[in-house]
Amino acid sequence: MKQLHSIDDLSVDDLMNIINLAIEFKQGKEVKHKGYAVNLFFENSTRTKCSFEMAERRLGMDVIPFETSTSSVAKGETLYDTCKTLESIGVDVLVIRHPDNAYYEQLQTLTIPVINAGDGSGQHPSQCLLDLMTIYEEYGTFKDLKVLICGDIINSRVARSNVTALTKLGADVKLAAPKEWQDTSLEVEYVAIDDVIKDIDVCMLLRIQHERHDGAKTFEKSHYHIEYGLTGERYDELKDSAIIMHPAPVNRGVEIDSELVEASKSRIFKQMENGVFTRMSILSHILNKGEK
Ligand code: CP
Repeated sequence: MKQLHSIDDLSVDDLMNIINLAIEFKQGKEVKHKGYAVNLFFENSTRTKCSFEMAERRLGMDVIPFETSTSSVAKGETLYDTCKTLESIGVDVLVIRHPDNAYYEQLQTLTIPVINAGDGSGQHPSQCLLDLMTIYEEYGTFKDLKVLICGDIINSRVARSNVTALTKLGADVKLAAPKEWQDTSLEVEYVAIDDVIKDIDVCMLLRIQHERHDGAKTFEKSHYHIEYGLTGERYDELKDSAIIMHPAPVNRGVEIDSELVEASKSRIFKQMENGVFTRMSILSHILNKGEK
């Protein structure tokens, strides 16, 4: 694997190799990679940015600090020139989050790898892989698992990556969303949450992406919660073995009742924990220097 732009680029073997190495890291495997990493975040982030940095440091890499607000991006330097500069001074890998879909296409001529940490409403491959790791830890398989992805589908790079990967791995994926937020280009059935809640194995809730709604009037929080949120009543209808996921940050009381964020079926903080091991695995596969 030379870089990670889209989950579409990964085969079933690639997906499983990344998950399995992440699990080995969680079990204590130690691998060191020499090199310099830069994390460029043109959109806000807590989990992805900090867990990539944690992963890089655990692998023994040097992390060069970079903040868009204090860099020459603020003087108008382009994304390409910024990345070419970092390549020129000896950086080995770039981790980039950017509001433009498929921003990575303008970086194809770089010789160093680019890891996509989220592009607009396009893809969020590292989030998808940590979600897959979390599901795999729970069930040991993806085959025929019933997964419901619920919420702001049209604006969600997490949904887009997960629909592709979970379908490829044999899961039975369904979507639930208000009509305005449905993406009909995804070849997956839309259902009513209450029609499937009793049968699903994984209930994956999505954050409402207010920043991508262009100021358009969306749902009242309380209305969304009643129609599409995980309420206490819906939680009680889930199978005992079912798990709840959310990429976070969570809008408490909107996508999920605040009291359920750390309920026994919730894996939300487990997802964050797994994010570090997944990103160690992604970096290791890309740096591909073997075990040193
Ligand atoms: N899940 C996720 O991408 O969170 P951050 O925006 O905090 O990185």
